[in-house]
Amino acid sequence: MYLIVFLTTVSWSVKQTTNGETYNCVDFYEQPAFDHPLLKDNKFNFQPSSSYSVDSSGSSNKKQSDIWLNGKGCPIGTVPIRKTTRDDLSRAESAAETVHTNTNNNYLHVAVLRTSEEKKYYGAGMITSVYNFAVSSRQYSSSRIKLQNGPDSIVVGWTVRKKMENRTIYSVLNPLIKKDSHCYNTLCPGFILMSPDTPFDSVLQVSERGNHIRAQKFFVRKDAASGDWVLQIGLDNTTVGTWPQRIFSKLNDSATYVDWGGEAYSASSEDLPPMGSGFPPMQSSKLDGYGRQVTVVDENQQVDYNPPECVTYTSNNKRYKIFDEGVLETDNQRLILFGGSSGPA
Ligand SMILES: *[C@@H]1O[C@H](CO)[C@@H](O)[C@H](O)[C@H]1NC(C)=O
Ligand SMILES: *[C@@H]1O[C@H](CO)[C@@H](O)[C@H](O)[C@H]1NC(C)=O
Repeated sequence: MYLIVFLTTVSWSVKQTTNGETYNCVDFYEQPAFDHPLLKDNKFNFQPSSSYSVDSSGSSNKKQSDIWLNGKGCPIGTVPIRKTTRDDLSRAESAAETVHTNTNNNYLHVAVLRTSEEKKYYGAGMITSVYNFAVSSRQYSSSRIKLQNGPDSIVVGWTVRKKMENRTIYSVLNPLIKKDSHCYNTLCPGFILMSPDTPFDSVLQVSERGNHIRAQKFFVRKDAASGDWVLQIGLDNTTVGTWPQRIFSKLNDSATYVDWGGEAYSASSEDLPPMGSGFPPMQSSKLDGYGRQVTVVDENQQVDYNPPECVTYTSNNKRYKIFDEGVLETDNQRLILFGGSSGPA
């Protein structure tokens, strides 16, 4: 009798995606985020936040039936955590060891648009094209937004890495466990999943370069009421996760720096990973990695569609390029184009 009840519970709490990935539906308060030392004792007050809609004109997110095998995500009050085997875990751990967040590190390359004035920024967003390409086991490549204040940063976007089976996944890089290393998504304490039906660590649909471009919207905002940072995904700004402000010593106030663009890491100085679409930019949004609707949230909590005082920066202008196309008249959105190909340094 006992065994039957037990098995029933287990099968109810496991979900599969249409990509064949298995997720456990974990009680909200049992998710790994709460392993964070500063979150352990404090019960996080779980209230689905009001939405901060900045663009309601777009289409909605992918249909649930496109994501989940049975057409539905996890039950309310739970969140999907990808089932990890011991192999997955050791892979993630060794990935965390080899990944450095220090931008002075020669092996972390960026091609970004970045703020040049130290101001208070309460959020940032962009819609970025999604690609998949080959990277070596000691590399990753990402299109992302970074918000920073001193030692604290929030980095969100997509990432491709061989250690994650060559898949392009949503990524929340979370430099909180150890200095100079960071981790991904739900493997990181501190980033709390809010949505019962958004599978992080799941494969994303990718673009066919020059033809059919797939893009994802990422928007991070400091919630004025709670002070917590919130991650929203998709044109309808679905709230999928949050970083409580108490885990930060600087970002508990505001960000003082934001950048948008590509990040390519290699553990070796010999090889530079691809970035953007994986090709040198040709100043075409069908061929390059792009970020459009590049925004900041200013001191007055307003979304600024033309972030002021921004400059382009690339850490290696032979290999990686970034173009600031400014605000296009056609769709009134700030556009950046960036990328680069792989090869020896
Ligand atoms: C990842 O890609 C490399 C080549 O780029 C390939 O050798 C390897 O088998 C791939 N791994 C998986 C798990 O698909
Ligand atoms: C942020 O946290 C630091 C360290 O805990 C604290 O000294 C500071 O007063 C906090 N700032 C805000 C605005 O809460």
